[in-house]
Amino acid sequence: MRLEGKTAIITGGAGGIGRALTRVFVREGANVLFVDINDENGRALESELGASARFLHVDISVDGAAEEIRDAAIDAFGSVNILVNNAHASRRATLADHTDDMFALSFDTGFYPTIHLMQACYEQLKECKGAVVNFASGSGLDGMPTQASYAAAKEAIRGVSRVAANEWAPDGVRVNVVCPFAATEGVRAWQEEFPEQAAASVAKIPLKRIGDPENDVAPIVVFLASDDAKYMTGQTVMADGGIIQLR
Ligand SMILES: NC(=O)c1ccc[n+]([C@@H]2O[C@H](COP(=O)([O-])OP(=O)(O)OC[C@H]3O[C@@H](n4cnc5c(N)ncnc54)[C@H](O)[C@@H]3O)[C@@H](O)[C@H]2O)c1
Repeated sequence: MRLEGKTAIITGGAGGIGRALTRVFVREGANVLFVDINDENGRALESELGASARFLHVDISVDGAAEEIRDAAIDAFGSVNILVNNAHASRRATLADHTDDMFALSFDTGFYPTIHLMQACYEQLKECKGAVVNFASGSGLDGMPTQASYAAAKEAIRGVSRVAANEWAPDGVRVNVVCPFAATEGVRAWQEEFPEQAAASVAKIPLKRIGDPENDVAPIVVFLASDDAKYMTGQTVMADGGIIQLR
């Protein structure tokens, strides 16, 4: 087990990729404090996984959420070794139709919680030479139409992740970024709403399929969070079947 004895915080850990991460992290030996606003999913996952998983209902966009989440992880499991900033909400519209509220939603659920949780957990991460995995998106790298607020927040997360990787490397804290492409509820809704765009995206995947959250994305996140990746920091890792090949 690659995460034996580690404590992880996972935001958005009750649904989509986050739920897969919570399951696989527990399977790999971690204790997981997972945060979500979906109580039904959160409670179901908590009873499925038992004592190694603790659900916390927190809206990560509200003031003080980061400290509440860190304190809950310490209360439940004694430390914070791994921080996974996965949750992110956004709305789609062309740039011409994008409103300030749409930008606020994307930054308030994606960018600021990522920063605030990194700041809140820094001392604990430093103490145990921990790891941060932040979530970005090929939509940001590619500039996907209708995704202005989402792309902006995701690229901001990548920028800050590189700064943190450099600032925190002397402390032994690693910070990496994952850009996934996986068949979650959100992606399925997107396939239904924009079938042509979705079909075109699948056709462009070298591995010719949308990834599975548990089998394709979670192992990459486990790797980055584990000591196997001890010589990696500041990287963006594409977990997308090869669509974007960074150089
Ligand atoms: N699924 C993909 O193919 C894909 C592609 C590119 C990037 N991503 C990124 O990967 C991450 C996970 O994506 P996903 O598809 O699993 O998302 P999702 O929408 O399926 O799940 C997100 C989870 O976060 C929770 N959440 C939303 N707002 C919250 C808040 N304010 N406070 C606490 N929890 C909140 C939701 O309840 C849900 O359980 C996100 O950062 C997303 O932007 C996903």
